[in-house]
Amino acid sequence: MTALKNDRFLRALQRQPVDRTPVWMMRQAGRYLPEYRATRAKAGDFLSLCKNTELACEVTLQPLERYPLDAAILFSDILTIPDAMGLGLYFETGEGPKFRNTVRSAADVEALPSLKAETDLDYVMAAVSAIREALAGRVPLIGFSGSPWTLATYMVEGSSSKDFREAKRLMYSEPKVMHALLEKLAAAVTDYLNAQIRAGAQAVQIFDTWGGTLSSWAYAEFSLAYMKKIVDGLIRHHDGRHVPVILFTKNGGQWLEAMAETGADALGLDWTTDIGNARARVGDRVALQGNMDPSMLYAPPERIRQEVADILSRYGEGSGHIFNLGHGITPDVDPENAGAFIRAVCELSGDYHR
Ligand code: CP3
Repeated sequence: MTALKNDRFLRALQRQPVDRTPVWMMRQAGRYLPEYRATRAKAGDFLSLCKNTELACEVTLQPLERYPLDAAILFSDILTIPDAMGLGLYFETGEGPKFRNTVRSAADVEALPSLKAETDLDYVMAAVSAIREALAGRVPLIGFSGSPWTLATYMVEGSSSKDFREAKRLMYSEPKVMHALLEKLAAAVTDYLNAQIRAGAQAVQIFDTWGGTLSSWAYAEFSLAYMKKIVDGLIRHHDGRHVPVILFTKNGGQWLEAMAETGADALGLDWTTDIGNARARVGDRVALQGNMDPSMLYAPPERIRQEVADILSRYGEGSGHIFNLGHGITPDVDPENAGAFIRAVCELSGDYHR
């Protein structure tokens, strides 16, 4: 494997000294980029794009051609696991993800196959290897998965949801069935992330997009416990390097101490938590990734720059901060504004690393 030319991101995840704060954006390859829309049009639909090794590789690299980003993230989706389990994932324009089949009973959970990611999701591993080769050591590659709870919400609901009533109905009225589902998903996610690591992912992130919709006890029991199981089962050293793990629970700011106990290297923060406060609470144990409100990218470049300066100063001096948005970049952002955001991090953060 080619030597890594920029390891700022991996170093900051381990709270090792860096020359400036590394930066990447959740959903950095996506519809806000005209070149992404062009490649997607060539592929047909989104899933075909994920399954086309060459084109998935191409869109992963597109944001790196435009901006001085410190990491690449695999172009794929969290819903590849339920799709491979036979639920039949499809996307209807403007409506988000949908499944042909749902999981709502003990029999449905029982019927779910246990996956072997290396074969059942071979197209993802092919993309990981191709991207690593194309990157040629420019920046590290992040692999990812959804959390068991977040995947379960889509599998039970059969789509995105506002209130998660079916997932919560199952969780509260038949907790054993929900636990059986989460158990299967935790095993699948562990195997999936380990396969990505073996294929070349140099760090992994677990997206718990919907953990923050749970009460505190339910978060601990139905989301965090399964993420901890995953962290415990991951390959943590590969190809001569530590493989850092990032846990991101959107709206999970009140549970950072418990999240830091899982053994993850870093926690993702959305914008509702003050990053200085978060650092005071858990910064001696984990790195922090975040946390500008993605909607700030609708503001003029000078305002974006001011916000970047504020977040840098709230985190303060020293390593352990990976700059990011607090959630994915939205499709209608002007790519110039995304550029202003990344430039501001590069230009303003050096002062905090002397
Ligand atoms: O960050 C990256 O650039 C890597 C690619 C990535 C995608 N999805 C590509 C994608 C990642 C990391 C994801 C994760 C994902 N997918 C999550 C967790 C993160 C989060 O945003 O909370 C969730 C909940 C999903 C499920 C999903 N997939 C949704 C809700 C949607 C949006 C539907 C829509 O039309 O807005 C998708 C589709 C999707 N995944 C797109 C992309 C680029 C848009 C597809 C397109 O139309 O081109």
